[in-house]
Parts: sequence; structure tokens; C-alpha cells
Amino acid sequence: MIVLLLLHFCLWTLLAEAHADNKPDPIPYRLLTPLLDTPWTKDFTIHPWPEHPRPLLRRESWQNLNGIWTYQLASGSDDLITPPPLPLSQEILIPSCIESALSGIMASNVTHMWFATSLDVPHGRVNNERVILHFEAVDYEATVFLNGERIGFNRGGYFRFSVDITDHLKPDGSNDLLVFVFDPTDDPAYHIPVGKQSKDPSHIFYTPCSGIWQTVWLETVPSTYITSMEIAAGMDGTVIGVIDSSQGLGRPFNISIFDGSGGVLATYSGLSDQPFTFNATSPKLWSPGSPNLYNITVSMDQDIVNSYTGFRTISSGKIKGVQRPLLNGKFVFQFGTLDQGYWPDGIYLPPSLGAMVSDLNLLKNLGMNMVRKHVKVEPDLFYQACDQLGLLVVQDMPSMRGSGPPSPSEQAEFERQLEIMVNEHKSYPSIVTWVIYNEGWGQITQPYHPEEQIAARIRELDPTRLIDAVTGWHDYGFGDFHDSHHYAEPQCGTPFYSKPGVPYDPDRIGFQGEFGGVGHVPELKNLWPAQKALSSVSDTYELNEDLDAYNYRSHQLLDHLRDQVARFACSGAVWTQTTDVEGEVNGLITYDRRALRVHATQWKEDIKALYAAAEGRS
Ligand SMILES: *[C@@H]1O[C@H](CO)[C@@H](O)[C@H](O)[C@H]1NC(C)=O
Ligand SMILES: *[C@@H]1O[C@H](CO)[C@@H](O)[C@H](O)[C@H]1NC(C)=O
Ligand SMILES: *[C@@H]1O[C@H](CO)[C@@H](O)[C@H](O)[C@H]1NC(C)=O
Ligand SMILES: *[C@@H]1O[C@H](CO)[C@@H](O)[C@H](O)[C@H]1NC(C)=O
Repeated sequence: MIVLLLLHFCLWTLLAEAHADNKPDPIPYRLLTPLLDTPWTKDFTIHPWPEHPRPLLRRESWQNLNGIWTYQLASGSDDLITPPPLPLSQEILIPSCIESALSGIMASNVTHMWFATSLDVPHGRVNNERVILHFEAVDYEATVFLNGERIGFNRGGYFRFSVDITDHLKPDGSNDLLVFVFDPTDDPAYHIPVGKQSKDPSHIFYTPCSGIWQTVWLETVPSTYITSMEIAAGMDGTVIGVIDSSQGLGRPFNISIFDGSGGVLATYSGLSDQPFTFNATSPKLWSPGSPNLYNITVSMDQDIVNSYTGFRTISSGKIKGVQRPLLNGKFVFQFGTLDQGYWPDGIYLPPSLGAMVSDLNLLKNLGMNMVRKHVKVEPDLFYQACDQLGLLVVQDMPSMRGSGPPSPSEQAEFERQLEIMVNEHKSYPSIVTWVIYNEGWGQITQPYHPEEQIAARIRELDPTRLIDAVTGWHDYGFGDFHDSHHYAEPQCGTPFYSKPGVPYDPDRIGFQGEFGGVGHVPELKNLWPAQKALSSVSDTYELNEDLDAYNYRSHQLLDHLRDQVARFACSGAVWTQTTDVEGEVNGLITYDRRALRVHATQWKEDIKALYAAAEGRS
């Protein structure tokens, strides 16, 4: 009897387990209809972002994990104790913001969530190769499980993190990857870098992005491999850098810089994990007018990686008595737009690289030489595109938001993430300036002034660029710039100023971090039709009746700026902005990238006149 009962129990358990394995299929992926689409939405496929995501450190052996994963809500951090069985309840497209139509989810107000996929990693690696799992960006905290084991954690929504998964892989090659994400955007209990994301978007704050929003990929590397590479090449041909090895100090490496016509510009043999320097003879310099880049190959033991660099020097110096930003020793007036990097279909991630580059082409074709990446960090391919096109990048740190000042530990976390931003991006030649604070957001404005020691720390990490400690508002004299924000009229390096500005400081570079912002209400079909956005349209800094009025006002403002360049100490300016974003209708082009506001011929002339005025001062 007992035996029978036991047998019965065993059978019942087996059946129950079979049933658990027989979970209902997840709800299939479907591209949802965004509130507004772009010309790229219709070409969207379930194999997004196929490009190698890390252009400065490329190996042949990599595998893209973008595509259909599964997703489900989590109820809170307690869910971490008992990860759910796979698959999860609904399919999702990775990478994406769960709030976007491209994700297939279009969720809102989610703070805890699960993502899963299965990794097919062939068994039987040769020579002790390692397998590395890379996440380019997950907003905001990610806990990574492989085959049920917790193997990684990352905090910070804008930066790459990597886990060596070799020792956690199953011999049969099929592995369950599960990622728990916590994103407390807008929770008043948290001051975290979020930029312009808001769960209650209106006017200058927009729809948030949560989850795995950039490429996920696998890489196979030899047992001794290059873990990171920093390279800066100057106008005199000097190449300085550090190449780190997984084995630590002293691994020999060879580096070659190719000249573009099959020849070699320079080679050098060095040792890992310590600074090196060598010279290339007469390189063609990188500048917006001639963005010359050189391919690089580095070998270390069995490892071979490809990269590139551009030879250029950024500095601050006096030209005819005025403090100026210098590129290759010459004053180059910097003119470009405030660039938010928001998309109606993908929110924080455009549908494709082509979509992303089309925004940059618009700026370049109008004759701009700069772009200010505003309180957001883009996929690395954005910076590569700027390197290739010849656009100087002013890179903001994503700002914190919350009530009252950040706590000391929140401030320390902000600074830790800022250091990651600098280290991860400092080998892109196009980046010329790091920005710490924008208009007082998340800035502690009582003494001590944190930007003093943050600027000193950035200078230590990256002595090859300029630092804009504070763009707009609370300036206490730190960094290389005195940067004014003023709408709509510029006040660039001028002896007049408006509050909360301070008198122009001749010891630093006079800069207009924001101005313009003039707008025009587009046709309904080009507008983001969320109620809150529509009702904040009238908050746009200035609205013009029609496009002629918009272009007339733009011409006036650009002409005032030209006058300030000619008369005062104005060294660069940022026009608000590249595109409309949600209820803000002041872009060169609408949010859907379909209706261009600018009269291109007039804008090109006005922009040329700015450079000519600057020429007259150098
Ligand atoms: C999300 O939460 C915000 C407040 O944080 C609220 O204003 C908004 O209506 C919510 N949205 C949805 C779709 O529930
Ligand atoms: C570097 O190049 C030299 C000369 O070609 C070669 O002997 C050496 O093995 C190379 N070292 C590495 C680490 O590739
Ligand atoms: C650099 O290498 C890429 C391929 O990786 C090639 O397309 C490009 O033309 C090369 N550029 C130069 C300047 O050699
Ligand atoms: C590299 O060139 C710089 C400037 O031309 C010179 O000062 C330096 O000594 C050179 N360094 C080496 C290692 O040749």
C-alpha cells in the first residue's frame, strides 16, 4: 500500500513538472502603432541594430543577441529571490524602451521587470577561449542570471557592462539568460541620472525609457585578451594611450596605424596596463572640414582587435586677447544644435543607424560643425558617425532630477557614473567638451561646489579635452567655459547679461550653451498627439505664425549672434534644437522627421556668416 502510494506520488510529481514545462506560449511580438511614426518605422525588422556596437574595439568573433526576447512585469525587488520560469509571458523586441511602440509593449509606469532569452553557445571552445556577454545600456539597474545563477549586476542607465559567462555555460550549448531590471525614474526617493525622462511628461520633459535599450551581444576572446584600449592622437603626431590586458601588467602588444592606402603610418611595440607614447610622422589632421581617420590594429598574444583614431588637439588659448577654444592650435567657432536624441517610435533609441545618422546629416548639410548631446549618452555608433562626418561633440552628463539636493551617496554615484562616461568615450576624436551640470539640475549650489573637484577629476582622467562645468545658470567660476543660456536672443560673451546669469568672465571661454528655441505649430499629422504634450505646445519659448516668420526670426537671432561674435568674446553657440520633441515644437525639423522648418539656403548663409565673423577675430 505504502509502495503504491509512493509510486502514485512520484507519478503525480512527474506530471506536475511536465505541466510546469508546458507553460502557455508567450504573447507573440507585434510592432505596435506609435502615437507618431517616422520614415524609418515601416522598414523596422525584428533584427534591429545589426552593426557591431563597439567601433573602437572590434573583434571578428562576435554574436548579436538583438531580436525577440520575452518579457514580463515583476511586482518588486522581492521577485529577485525566486526568478520566474521561462519563457516569460510576452515577446518583446530587444533592444528597445518598453515604453516604445517598437518594443511591442508600450508600457507606462513600470519600475520592475524581467527580460529573458536563450543563448546558443556552441560547446567545445579551443585554447581556453572566454565568452563575454555585453550589454551596451540597460536603464536603470540590471541583475543578470544565467541558467538560474546570479552572475552580474549593473547600476546606471547609459553605460556598457560586461560579464564573463564562460564558467556558467551549459555543456549542451543551450542557456537561459534572465535579466531583472529596476528603473525608479521620477521616484522622489531617488536622485539618479535620468536626463529628460519623466513618467509625467510635458513641455521640456519627455516619455521615459526603461529596460534593455541598447544592443546585447556575445564575444569570444582568447584566454589572454585586451580588455580596454584608450588612445588619443594629437596634431603633432603623438599617440598616447593605455592598452589593458586580462592578465594584468606587462603583456607585450603591437599596434599599427594604417594610412588608408594599404600602407602603415606608424607601428609601436609596448607593454599592457601602463601608459605608452609614440609618434606618427605627418598624419593628416582630423577636423570638421576634413575628418581624416586612421584604422588601427592591436595584437596581444592570440588576440587581434581593430580600432581607429583621428589626430587632433583641443585646447584653450588666448587669440588676440580673447580666451578661445582651439582645434589644432586654431580658433574654431563652434556652432550646432541642442540634440535630444528622442524618437516618437523608439523614444530613446532610433529605429536604425540610418535614422540616427540622418539627424546628423541635417546639421552637417546646413554647415554646422558641432552638436551638443543633451543630458543623454548615445550608442557608440553615434560618436563614430560624428567622427566620420566631422561634427564636434559637446557631451553632457545626464542630469539627476528630484526634490531637494542629492544625498552624499547619490552625489557619489552621479560622479562614479560621470567617470564611466568619460572613460568609455574618451577615445572618440569628435568629442571636444565634457559638460557636468545643465541649468542647475541636480547641482548642489551651496558651497562646497561639487563641480570644482569633479572638473579636476575629469582633467585627470582626460587631459585632452575641455570642461564645461556648468552650462547655464549657477556658475561659480570652474571649468574652461563661461556658458550663458538665454532665450530667444543670444547673450554670448557679451558685456550685458540677464539673471540668473553673471557678468562675462574674460578668463574663460565665452559660450552660448543654449539660445533660439523659436517654434511654430506644425500640422497635426506631424505632432505628437499626447494630451499633455498638446497642451504644453504653447510653453515653447516663442511661437511663430508660419514658416516665413519662423525663418525671419531665425535669421534675426543668427544675425545677432554674428554681431556678438564680431564685437564681443563669443566662441561658440548652441541653437535649440535639432528636432521637435513631444510638445516642444522648436526643431529644425518636426518630431517625425518629416517637415523641415528651415529655409536651407538662408540658414547656410547665416551660418557661414558666423564662421566668417569668427575668422575676422583670429
Ligand atoms: C504614470 O504616473 C504618473 C505620475 O507619476 C501619472 O501622472 C500618469 O498618469 C501615469 N500614467 C499612466 C499611463 O498610468
Ligand atoms: C610584434 O611584432 C614582432 C615583429 O613582427 C613579433 O616578433 C612579435 O611576436 C609581435 N608581438 C605580438 C604581441 O604580436
Ligand atoms: C578602415 O577600415 C574599414 C573596415 O574596417 C574600411 O571600411 C575603411 O575604409 C578603412 N578606413 C581607412 C581610412 O583606412
Ligand atoms: C614625438 O614628437 C614630439 C613633438 O614633435 C617630440 O617632442 C617627442 O620627443 C617625440 N617623441 C618620441 C618618442 O619620438
